[in-house]
Amino acid sequence: MTKISLISIQTKDLKKKQILSICKLKNSFWPWTMKKQYEWYKKTVKKTDINNMLVINKKLAGYTLLRKRKALTGNKSLNYFYFDSFILDKKLRNRGLGETLILFNNKIINKFKKHAFLTCTKKTVQFYLKYNWKILSKRKFQIMDHKSTWFKKKSSLNGMTYNLTKKNKKKVFYFIN
Ligand SMILES: CC(C)(COP(=O)(O)OP(=O)(O)OC[C@H]1O[C@@H](n2cnc3c(N)ncnc32)[C@H](O)[C@@H]1OP(=O)(O)O)[C@@H](O)C(=O)NCCC(=O)NCCS
Repeated sequence: MTKISLISIQTKDLKKKQILSICKLKNSFWPWTMKKQYEWYKKTVKKTDINNMLVINKKLAGYTLLRKRKALTGNKSLNYFYFDSFILDKKLRNRGLGETLILFNNKIINKFKKHAFLTCTKKTVQFYLKYNWKILSKRKFQIMDHKSTWFKKKSSLNGMTYNLTKKNKKKVFYFIN
């Protein structure tokens, strides 16, 4: 019998074994090396960041990281989630599990009454649009603290938000590290 569980857990409550399985799953799509994945995780992910996991028969099958970060808009500072590392095991794609995981993420974001922001390629925009994420025009946001070329290549960078209030007409300056 297949047992599917959805788990939301802060980094400080994860065991090393779980972090290694997250690195392994991420490395299957963003291939760096396990060592680099682990170093990145230790350096970037904060103790209170949220790890959302889809587990099938005790094995990690899907993952998302919600990084609790700050943004500035107008003269206000706000807490938001940077939505990162959304992935499903390759063998398990195209059968609705990606939908299960994104809806779980949305539920967690709602629970914290925050908005979330992500960056993705054009190819994936359609996926998020189906689940109530909205495109944030390139004029309306800026990432303040990222040096990688991916973030500099503005043409490939699509920003999307979930729960960002429609009243907010001002540009948002995001910190993601
Ligand atoms: C993105 C991802 C998690 C989707 O998971 P999945 O299990 O294949 O998705 P589902 O089977 O739940 O699909 C749900 C719906 O979204 C559609 N969909 C799936 N991937 C899509 C994509 N990349 N772009 C547009 N639509 C997509 C499906 O066709 C399906 O639509 P339908 O219900 O009308 O048939 C998975 O493809 C993945 O892990 N990709 C590699 C990592 C990645 O690209 N992450 C995103 C980083 S921004």
